[in-house]
Amino acid sequence: MKIGILTAGGDCPGLNAAIRSVGKTAILNYGMEVCGISDGFRGLLTKKITSIKEENLSGLLTLGGTILGTSREKPFQKSDIDEQDKPQIIKENYKKLGFDALVIIGGNGTMKTAQLLQEEGINVVGIPKTIDNDVWGTDITFGFDTAFSIATDAIDRLHTTANSHNRIMVIEVMGHNAGWIALYSGIAGGGDAILIPELGYNENDLAEFLVERNKLDKKYSIVVVAEGLILPKSKKSPGRYIAKRISTLTGLETRETILGYVQRGGTPTPTDRVLATRYGSAAVDLLVEGNFGKMVALKNDKIVPIDLKEVAGKIKLVSKNHPLIKKSKAIGTFLGAK
Ligand code: F6P
Repeated sequence: MKIGILTAGGDCPGLNAAIRSVGKTAILNYGMEVCGISDGFRGLLTKKITSIKEENLSGLLTLGGTILGTSREKPFQKSDIDEQDKPQIIKENYKKLGFDALVIIGGNGTMKTAQLLQEEGINVVGIPKTIDNDVWGTDITFGFDTAFSIATDAIDRLHTTANSHNRIMVIEVMGHNAGWIALYSGIAGGGDAILIPELGYNENDLAEFLVERNKLDKKYSIVVVAEGLILPKSKKSPGRYIAKRISTLTGLETRETILGYVQRGGTPTPTDRVLATRYGSAAVDLLVEGNFGKMVALKNDKIVPIDLKEVAGKIKLVSKNHPLIKKSKAIGTFLGAK
């Protein structure tokens, strides 16, 4: 078999570990020919591909980013200026390049594109990645554990400076639509309040909660805010907005930190390396079985195939009765309302 690998959407730690695992399994276990496709789906339009040999796959396990490059190219999205029939071009290039199948590594949007390519007759298997952990159908995506560890480390560091200055510290962490990073790092970092889009928030309750803590002689408070938090008006940064509102409503000295892309960079945690390795190898097994149109998923610590049709167009949010929400409330954490 001749296979192509591509990484699409925002990068995340563990992509290279997954590429390494796909490549090594394909070459060493099955004797396949492996190609890297550059810059996500864009590389399928431009035929920017390179041959990958086993010796090219060394030193990748711990490396952040993606050696293949990535882009947010969405070939099925119609654009007014672009007259090209991108799906058709991709179909032709796939044939010209002699591929038998593609391994497509990405998040929600990428899995949708993978499904549409499958419908066009291209054999695909998907691997779920994103720091946001919001891909439907899998318990976890790789990249999340690293991002959540980085965010936790940042919160740990805010405690000491908040304590020294008797301040309220607001930290905004990533999560475009979902509050997974905020919830997990908020719990791990001992956040006093955690605000996530799934639960919303009441600003008067939040202010009251923080004032009460202050009256109890708790010198400082940490507020963890998810990037995707829905605000009353279209404001750019929830962290900045919430910090301003807290300062106005409580009169307490407040500062904000917006963690940003540092959460997506650098070496993956051991957990993400293991998960990316498991996903990569399992994806190649599916190709060999001819089990196309699937995404590899983690369910109860087992890697299982799931239909891309089921995954496409969905998003995995934090449910309102998630056990972690109940437990955080039980220990007095503010989760949007009193
Ligand atoms: O998908 C992960 C993510 O980091 C989101 O949390 C964030 O909103 C988005 O990507 C930003 O990515 P970019 O600026 O690269 O489009």
